[in-house]
Amino acid sequence: MAAEIIDGKQIAGRVRIEVARDVERFTQESGGARPGLATILVGDDPGSAIYVAGKQKASKEVGMVPSNYPLPADTSREELVELIERLNADPGVSGILLQLPLPEHLDGVELTGMIDPDKDVDGLTPVSAGRLALGLEGLRPCTPQGVMTLLDAAGAQLEGAEAVVIGRSNLFGKPMAQLLLGANATVTTCHSRTRDLAEVCRRADVLIAAVGRARMVKADWVKPGAIVIDVGMNRINSSPPTLAGDVDFDEVKDVASAITPVPGGVGPMTIAFLLRNTLQAARMARAGARG
Ligand SMILES: NC(=O)c1ccc[n+]([C@@H]2O[C@H](COP(=O)([O-])OP(=O)(O)OC[C@H]3O[C@@H](n4cnc5c(N)ncnc54)[C@H](OP(=O)(O)O)[C@@H]3O)[C@@H](O)[C@H]2O)c1
Repeated sequence: MAAEIIDGKQIAGRVRIEVARDVERFTQESGGARPGLATILVGDDPGSAIYVAGKQKASKEVGMVPSNYPLPADTSREELVELIERLNADPGVSGILLQLPLPEHLDGVELTGMIDPDKDVDGLTPVSAGRLALGLEGLRPCTPQGVMTLLDAAGAQLEGAEAVVIGRSNLFGKPMAQLLLGANATVTTCHSRTRDLAEVCRRADVLIAAVGRARMVKADWVKPGAIVIDVGMNRINSSPPTLAGDVDFDEVKDVASAITPVPGGVGPMTIAFLLRNTLQAARMARAGARG
């Protein structure tokens, strides 16, 4: 039987409507102060500029106040530190996003770590990662949160389930594994040195691929009836150029019980959860200000 196609675009749209409604409520309760999302873009990478513009537009659409800080590629570490510290101290800024990757002379991990953890809407600072690992309240990385919502929409029963995550990046794989563990799944994290990857994947009730290799996961890697989430976004130089996931969708859809497409699966969830995190950060700041 063909798998259910998990419609990330529709689910993300619902999250955005909820956030817009909650932003209005927040603004009324705060005497007109709206949540603010500040983005920092260093250099002129066209892909990064498109991502940042999309995040700015989306935050405006839900009633937040976007502000963007475009900086030249030769910006010094000191200049960037000064800007981050200024935004950390600005009460009009609820969330700060430092668009990665940075030019080579700047250390993305170090500089991201300077963002106030209570404004860390990407959930990537060491403090945010530590809070997640310890099960403490905090801002979680956007894409893994989006995947949890997609799993919920697909009716995944995570308690006691075998979950396999392919990929161990700080951005996705590690926080994804932590969230699944928090939901009481039995979690295996795979990477480029994993032996018998296909064999490990075949154990999964929930299989999540975040590798960056087009159509790597084949039908015979998937247990019949598994839920398959494809995080990969690989540009294929066909004419016209297309986007492919890490999962061979055409094959795997006949084996899985539910599967995300690319595009239209995980991708739209990331911005939706960035907005949700910005609202959460604004709420945390307001609660802190009230003491
Ligand atoms: N939809 C979204 O919003 C969204 C968000 C984030 C990422 N993505 C996409 O997800 C993919 C992964 O992103 P990322 O940032 O996590 O990438 P990354 O930092 O490059 O990490 C890739 C991971 O895949 C592992 N890997 C590479 N080749 C492998 C192989 N042959 N077998 C098993 N594992 C292998 C790597 O292992 P090692 O650690 O051993 O090198 C690494 O852990 C990319 O396509 C990216 O565009 C999409």
